Amino acid sequence: MNRIKINDTLEFSQIIYGMWRLADGENNGVKSVKDKINLCLEQGITTFDQADIYGDYSAEEMFGLALKEDKSLRNKIEIVTKCGIVAPCGKYADVPVKYYDTSKKHIDASVNSSLKNMNIDHIDMLLIHRPDPYMDHNETGHALDALIKSGKVGAVGVSNFKPYDWELLQSGMVNKLYTNQIELSLQSVDAFSNGDVAFHQKNASPIMAWSPLGGGKLMTGNSELTEKMDQIGLQHNVDRSAVAISFLLSHPANIIPIMGTNNIDRILRISDALKVKMDRITWFDLYTAALGREVA
Ligand SMILES: NC(=O)c1ccc[n+]([C@@H]2O[C@H](COP(=O)([O-])OP(=O)(O)OC[C@H]3O[C@@H](n4cnc5c(N)ncnc54)[C@H](OP(=O)(O)O)[C@@H]3O)[C@@H](O)[C@H]2O)c1
Repeated sequence: MNRIKINDTLEFSQIIYGMWRLADGENNGVKSVKDKINLCLEQGITTFDQADIYGDYSAEEMFGLALKEDKSLRNKIEIVTKCGIVAPCGKYADVPVKYYDTSKKHIDASVNSSLKNMNIDHIDMLLIHRPDPYMDHNETGHALDALIKSGKVGAVGVSNFKPYDWELLQSGMVNKLYTNQIELSLQSVDAFSNGDVAFHQKNASPIMAWSPLGGGKLMTGNSELTEKMDQIGLQHNVDRSAVAISFLLSHPANIIPIMGTNNIDRILRISDALKVKMDRITWFDLYTAALGREVA
C-alpha cells in the first residue's frame, strides 16, 4: 500500500482505519480490537483514527487496552485523535448543552486524557474535531504549538473546517496545519465542487475522507449509482465497497479514505480498492450517477 507523506517525519497509509464505531456491537473486546489492528497491518493499513468522544468517550480506552496488551503495536502505527466536542454523555454526562471547546485548558486536558486512555506517550496527529464558532484562534493556535513543542503531539490538523476556518486558525499558529478530515464519498460529493477539495489540493494538504461508504448507505442502497458501482466492481473482481474507496484514491488531491467497518471480512474487501485503477471516464461515470445529472 502506498504511503502518503504528511510532513518530513510523518506518513500515513493510503487507507486509514477509523474507530468511531469500535464500541458498537457485541464483538468489541480487547482480542477483537487486536485482531482488527493486526488485520489492518497485514493490509498495510498503519494509520488509526480516533477521537476523545468516540464511543461516548470510551473508544480510546478500548484501543489503549489493545496497545497495552501488545506493546509491539505502538511502533508500527500512526495514531490520529481529535478533541474539542463536549457532549452530554460519558464523562461529560452532566453538561447542560453540547458545545465545542477549543480553549487551551480544554485541549491540554483532552490530550492528557487521550494519552492516558491509549497508554501512549505521544499522539502522531491531533485534530480539532469541528470548527468552533467561539474560537479564539490565537489561544487555540498557541495551545497547539505548545503541544508540539512539548512532544505530546507530533503534528496538528483539523476536521470539518471550511477553508476560512483553516485560514483563521493557521493565522494564530507557528506550526503548519497538515490535514483536514471532511465528509467525502460517492454519497457526499459536494466538496469536489464547493472549494473544499480545491483549497487542500492547492495547499498540498492531504484530505482525510470520513464515511467513505456513506456510513454504509452506499452498501445497502439500490440505485443507478450502486448499479454502476457493482458493474465496475465486477470488471475488477472486487465488491462495491472497493469501488467507493477507489473513487477517492484515484483523485489527484491526495485523498485518504477512513474506513469504518467493524467487520473483519469487510476490512479485507475494502482494501481490495488498491486493485482498481480508475480512469477519468469511469470516475465521471460514478460522479455523474452520484450527482444524479450529467455535468454541465
Ligand atoms: N471527523 C468527523 O467528524 C468524522 C465523522 C464521521 C466519521 N469519522 C471517521 O471516519 C471513520 C469512518 O466513518 P464511517 O464508519 O461512517 O465509514 P464508512 O466506512 O462509510 O461506514 C461504515 C459503516 O458501513 C457499514 N458497512 C460497511 N460495509 C457494509 C456492507 N457491505 N453492508 C452493510 N453495511 C456495511 C459498516 O457496518 P459494519 O461495521 O457492520 O461493517 C459501518 O456501520 C470513523 O470511524 C471515524 O474515524 C470522522
